[in-house]
Amino acid sequence: MLKCRECKECNGLACRGEIPGLGGKDSGRAFINNVEALKRVRINMDVCAEPGEITTETEILGIPMSMPVFSAPVAGIKNNYGYDIGEYEYSQLMLQGCADAGIIGFTGDGIDPEELFAKPARAIHDLGGRGIATIKPWVKEGVDLRIGILKDLKTSAAAMDIDAAGLPLLRAGKTPVETKTAASLRYIKESLDRPFIVKGVMTVHAALTAVEAGADAIVVSNHGGRVMDDTPGTAEVLPAIADAVKGKITILVDGGIRSGNDIFKCLALGADGVLIGRPLALACIKGGSEGVKALADKYRDQLKQAMLMTGCHTLADITRDKVTVKE
Ligand SMILES: Cc1cc2nc3c(=O)[nH]c(=O)nc-3n(C[C@H](O)[C@H](O)[C@H](O)COP(=O)(O)O)c2cc1C
Repeated sequence: MLKCRECKECNGLACRGEIPGLGGKDSGRAFINNVEALKRVRINMDVCAEPGEITTETEILGIPMSMPVFSAPVAGIKNNYGYDIGEYEYSQLMLQGCADAGIIGFTGDGIDPEELFAKPARAIHDLGGRGIATIKPWVKEGVDLRIGILKDLKTSAAAMDIDAAGLPLLRAGKTPVETKTAASLRYIKESLDRPFIVKGVMTVHAALTAVEAGADAIVVSNHGGRVMDDTPGTAEVLPAIADAVKGKITILVDGGIRSGNDIFKCLALGADGVLIGRPLALACIKGGSEGVKALADKYRDQLKQAMLMTGCHTLADITRDKVTVKE
C-alpha cells in the first residue's frame, strides 16, 4: 500500500503515478504542473500604503467565511491514505475543523451511494448543514438517486466533479459516469433546491457551459492531477477563465495551493476563493479537527501577511496587478 509520504513540500514528485495513494495520474505531471504554475506567480511587494486593519472575511454563495478557503472533497481515505478511518468520521472531523476555522468543507462521492455519498453528506447535516456535498457525474439515474438523498439533508450547496467522467472504475459500473452538457448540468441545477457548483473546469469553453447551465459557481480544477495526465496547472488556465466569466459566476480554484501566499496568488489571478485538498486531508487524519483548524489558521495568517506586504486591506484589493507571472 503506497501511502502519503508527508513530504515537507507536497508537490507530487515522490508520489507520481500512485493511485491508490496520493499521486497524480501516470507521470504525475498534472499534479506537479499545479505546484509549478503557482511558483511562477510572483507577488509584487509594495508597502507604500495607508496603515490599518486587514480583513480576510468574505461571503461566498451567501455563506459567511473567515477567509475564502474550502477543504476540497477527498474521498476514499482508507484506500488512498491507508488510515483506518470511515468516511463519516473523517468528514465529521474535517467539517468540524473547517467550521472552527470559519471556513467550509466539501464532501465526496463514489460507487457505493450510502457509504461514500450519503454518510459524508449526513455528516454535513449533523453539523448544522455547513458544508458542500459533491456528486460524481453519473448518468441521470445515479444523479437522481443522490439528489433524492440530499432532499432530506441540509447542506450549504451541492457540487458535481464533472472531471470524474473518465475514471475507468466509475465507467465500468452498472450506473456509470458520463460527460456533461449545458442541458444535463441545467437539469441538475433545476433539480436542486440549493446553489450548484461545477468542479473540474479547465477551459473557457467549460466555464461558459457552466454559466449557460445556470450554475452558481465553478471550480477551476484538474482533480489534483488524478483524472488525466499532462494537463496545464490550474493557475495557468485561471486568468483566461476569469477574463471570460468573472462577475457572471463565482470562480473557485484548486490544485497545489500550499500557503497563504498561494491563496493570494489565486485571488489576484481572478478567483473568488480556493479549495485545498491533500494538506488539509493529512492535517485531519493526523490531528483531527484541531489539526484542520491549526493549518487553516496558519493559511489565514499567511494570507494577511501577504495582504500587508502588498498594500491590501480587503480581498477586493487583491487585483491582477499585485502579481507578476514569469513565463
Ligand atoms: C485522495 C484524493 C481523493 C479525492 N477525491 C475526490 C472526490 O471524491 N471528489 C472530488 O471532486 N475530488 C476529489 N479529489 C480532488 C480534490 O477535491 C482536489 O480537486 C485536489 O486534491 C486539489 O489539489 P491539492 O490536493 O493539490 O490541493 C481527490 C483528491 C485526492 C488526493
